[in-house]
Amino acid sequence: MRTIVLKEEAQSSKSTIFCGEGAFEKELPRFLAGYPQKLIFTDSNVERLWGARIREVLGDVPVFVMPAGEEHKTEETLFSLLKAMAEQQLHRTSCLVMIGGGVVGDIGGLAAALYMRGIACFQVPTTLLAQVDSSVGGKTAIDFLGIKNLVGAFNQPEAVFADPCFLSTLPPREVRCGLGEMVKHGALSEELFETLLARRNELAALDVPADLIADNIAFKASVVAQDAKESGLRKSLNLGHTTAHALELAQKTRSHGECVLLGTIFEAELARRHEKCDDGYLHELVSLCKEVLGGIPALPPAKEWTPLALLDKKNTERGTVVVTAPVARGTYRLIALPFAEYAREAEEIQARLC
Ligand SMILES: NC(=O)c1ccc[n+]([C@@H]2O[C@H](COP(=O)([O-])OP(=O)(O)OC[C@H]3O[C@@H](n4cnc5c(N)ncnc54)[C@H](O)[C@@H]3O)[C@@H](O)[C@H]2O)c1
Ligand SMILES: [Zn+2]
Repeated sequence: MRTIVLKEEAQSSKSTIFCGEGAFEKELPRFLAGYPQKLIFTDSNVERLWGARIREVLGDVPVFVMPAGEEHKTEETLFSLLKAMAEQQLHRTSCLVMIGGGVVGDIGGLAAALYMRGIACFQVPTTLLAQVDSSVGGKTAIDFLGIKNLVGAFNQPEAVFADPCFLSTLPPREVRCGLGEMVKHGALSEELFETLLARRNELAALDVPADLIADNIAFKASVVAQDAKESGLRKSLNLGHTTAHALELAQKTRSHGECVLLGTIFEAELARRHEKCDDGYLHELVSLCKEVLGGIPALPPAKEWTPLALLDKKNTERGTVVVTAPVARGTYRLIALPFAEYAREAEEIQARLC
């Protein structure tokens, strides 16, 4: 078991992250013992697969179950949860326990921040993406008016329990989704990149070693600790994401992590054309992305998806696309491209890749 303490440099708040076998079964009950009143918040898939085990470990705690899926990351679900919290008569000294993927964590964290102006919450991330990414850093949100994560708050859980036991029921698509963010972390950290390369065969087989999950959590925690409110360094976590979001919007069936892997490939190639790069390194990074993807999938024509990159929040000037691209081991650059140039080069890169 590894314990990572996330202490934000600029804030007094502190969150402890337990990573490894036993985090759920042994550590969580110890923390919850101090709370006489609590509510578990989960989704329908996790309830179906893990509900019995959750009750075995945590006893007879009331549970609020949301329907699974991003399409339910809405104000309706948020307010149904707040209603359930009120019906259970949770008070200031109660806590909310979120057990699920990033959707459950994001909505639950926001509800805990809003209810009585803030009650304690604990997060048990059950997807790989939630373990290595969304449960670390205290960002919470719901989608609103069709815009992703439009309404949210920063709210650190008291503690996070990232237990690999939950990953045994995760479908391959969701494993790959988390791997996308792990490879992105590797592109930002020289040390992690070496470890990912050394374990590439396991990763390509979608077998994710528990120590690598802990290394990724520690990396994200170190970035957040230095820049909790995303004014500088935390923006590096957008690597590959401008192109990823465009691809994701254009083909809703592809998972976010798959699009992050594809986005990293495209943006590495764009970097090669515009910056002084370490070519050998970019070649290694791109081949790692391809291995984890299991090959480049068919993509819609570039003309269809490239305009969607104009919607990215990083773009500061109209008509310009900004990408956070890898250039050398552990090093990235923000590259601003006029849209016509981004679109033309993306089309050329796609023609070569597919
Ligand atoms: N807060 C942040 O910093 C942050 C960072 C990245 C992503 N996010 C958010 O996270 C969300 C994506 O998270 P996600 O990929 O975990 O999605 P998700 O919560 O929708 O989970 C994906 C699917 O896996 C199922 N599932 C969960 N645990 C399972 C298990 N152990 N076994 C089998 N199935 C299981 C879920 O029911 C769902 O169908 C997005 O809404 C995104 O905006 C937030
Ligand atoms: Zn992402």
